[in-house]
Amino acid sequence: MKIITTIKEIREALKKERKKSKTIGFIPTMGCLHEGHLALMRRARKDCDVVVVSIFVNPTQFGPSEDFEAYPRDLKKDAEMAEEVGVDYIFAPAIKEMYPRECLTYVNIGKITEVLCGAHRPSHFRGVATVVSKLFNIVQPNFAYFGEKDYQQLMVIKRMAEDLNLDIRIVGILTVREEDGLAMSSRNKYLNPKERKAALVLSKSLKLAERMVKNGEKNLKTVKEAMTKLIEKEPLVDLEYLAICDSISLKDLLEIKGKVLVALAAKVGKTRLIDNIILEGD
Ligand code: PAJ
Repeated sequence: MKIITTIKEIREALKKERKKSKTIGFIPTMGCLHEGHLALMRRARKDCDVVVVSIFVNPTQFGPSEDFEAYPRDLKKDAEMAEEVGVDYIFAPAIKEMYPRECLTYVNIGKITEVLCGAHRPSHFRGVATVVSKLFNIVQPNFAYFGEKDYQQLMVIKRMAEDLNLDIRIVGILTVREEDGLAMSSRNKYLNPKERKAALVLSKSLKLAERMVKNGEKNLKTVKEAMTKLIEKEPLVDLEYLAICDSISLKDLLEIKGKVLVALAAKVGKTRLIDNIILEGD
């Protein structure tokens, strides 16, 4: 496995691979890797000849009062984990390499970025779409892998690829969870033991929604109320939003219809966590 930090070098290395007609699979990450990230890499390893992982904590997707500075970074450990699952290249640029001067060009995706997390993190998805576009242009992958854990992000990238005619297959991968149900996230590192326990209520509330719908509940307001009640029992958890919406348009729904996304964000202590589940009515 090679660790490369400059755009010039990664371009040269991948140009050689493409000349040999190798397919390239790409996983963009912000590092602090866990089993969720590794699931994406394992899938890419199966699908593609060459697997490229980027590790870059992207400043343009963090708001001014968010955790950009505090975001955990550990390139040495990340490299060991990536190598173990058979990654070929890590691209880990410095900020100056990606943004040598003020960025004047941004990629904006409408509508689907204005709801859910987008409504609470203005310009977050603009930063994500811009950095992912830059990375796509640098790596030029055939396949790119994104987790359903960040469901809205996956939809935004899929829409961007479609609208801009990118010749890249965007592949979504199921959320990987801890044994007790907590969705894996680099930000789980921030949780103290009490918060870690309290955070469980998030996945529990999604399971509750799943059970209610399976038992025939069609009224999504009732489902939302039951979930909110459960979450509010946990004093360390402060719900930011809870939405039940169409899984493609991300528009709010009142009744279950087709594939439905149940998505939430909450502060557990000071840590902002997100989780979601896809449900299907009968
Ligand atoms: P990061 O949070 O590091 O996540 C990188 C990828 O791993 C994303 O596609 C995310 O959805 C996926 N992932 C994270 N936790 C997961 C889990 N528990 N199960 C499955 N997949 C999981 O998302 C980002 O970085 C950034 O926004 C990025 C796309 C790299 C742009 O900067």
